[in-house]
Amino acid sequence: MNIYSRPWGKLSDGRIATLYTLVNDRDMTVEITDFGGTIVSIKTPDRNGRITDVCLGYDSVADYEMADGYLGALVGRVANRIAGASFELNGETYTLHANDGKNCLHGGKKGYSHVIWNAETATSPDAAILTLTYFSPDGEEGFPGNLTVKVTYTLDNENALSIRYEAATDRDTPVNLTNHTYFNLAGYASGSVFDQTLWLDAESYVAGDEKLIPTAVKPVEGTPFDFSTVKPIGQDFFADCEDLHLAGGYDHCFNFTDWKDCRAGGEILLRGIVYDPVSGRKMEVYTNQPCVQFYTANFLKNPLFPLKGGYPQRTQTAFCLETQTMPDSVHHQGEADFTNCILHPGETYDYTTVYRFSAE
Ligand code: GLA
Repeated sequence: MNIYSRPWGKLSDGRIATLYTLVNDRDMTVEITDFGGTIVSIKTPDRNGRITDVCLGYDSVADYEMADGYLGALVGRVANRIAGASFELNGETYTLHANDGKNCLHGGKKGYSHVIWNAETATSPDAAILTLTYFSPDGEEGFPGNLTVKVTYTLDNENALSIRYEAATDRDTPVNLTNHTYFNLAGYASGSVFDQTLWLDAESYVAGDEKLIPTAVKPVEGTPFDFSTVKPIGQDFFADCEDLHLAGGYDHCFNFTDWKDCRAGGEILLRGIVYDPVSGRKMEVYTNQPCVQFYTANFLKNPLFPLKGGYPQRTQTAFCLETQTMPDSVHHQGEADFTNCILHPGETYDYTTVYRFSAE
């Protein structure tokens, strides 16, 4: 196991970001920068041992700072949407940045995806570990309470990349942390992911309006949102279905089977499998989070920010599986259909998601 670092380029405030490379004893390498705790590359073998980068990203940290899309980033304090960019908690109203129409998306103007995290590295006989910490002061981006956040990235010899998210607060606050990696198991510059297959252990999904603010929680059964039996991502993509049309594809929160039993520090279960029949690469997703946002990169079309090597951004050439709580749940606290998103002083936010790669 090995982990090494190098300076990676300048941000607009003159600070230098660092790029960390985690290498295991098999044939997997992961690069992560302290800017946004962003996963920059994931190199894994196909069924013939050929190694390819399956993670979309940019060539320079300046692009990560300027571009939209949150490629590879750690997202917080509250990933996904908060309607009207404001919420009430304990009788007080909190105003956030409206950075997605009238709504707040992915933490606001400068969320955790756009700050430099403190980094520490370690290795053990079978793990390369990058520990990132960030102190988010009371009032940052409008959120209440000082939040201490720790995210631990671990690459092991089973070709599993695990991400453990821990946080503690001194005032009640909504918290929803995730990672926003765009994957394409055939390689980041391989085009559409429609032929890659997906299995998701989800019983329902959150339908949204045209700005993807939740309108209803619906069972997946009998809809294009049913991935409980493996099917190609593209199979029902163009189905005559209003919930798909409103989002321009899949961009929905899927609620895992028995999601109400999921809790901080709870059992980490296999919830998703993506498979690319061409390369044979497979990615399993394990988590103790209740939900996952499955997103088919419907907004990935910004001509100003080409991807690594100049490859153009194109919609549906990647998928994201962002484990988290339900969007806008801060406005639905106490409703049986919705997840809790409030962290109280004395509690520990502690969730883990594992992306495990193999080939067959
Ligand atoms: C999430 C959202 C999408 C989009 C991307 C970033 O996945 O659900 O609607 O905002 O982030 O482009």
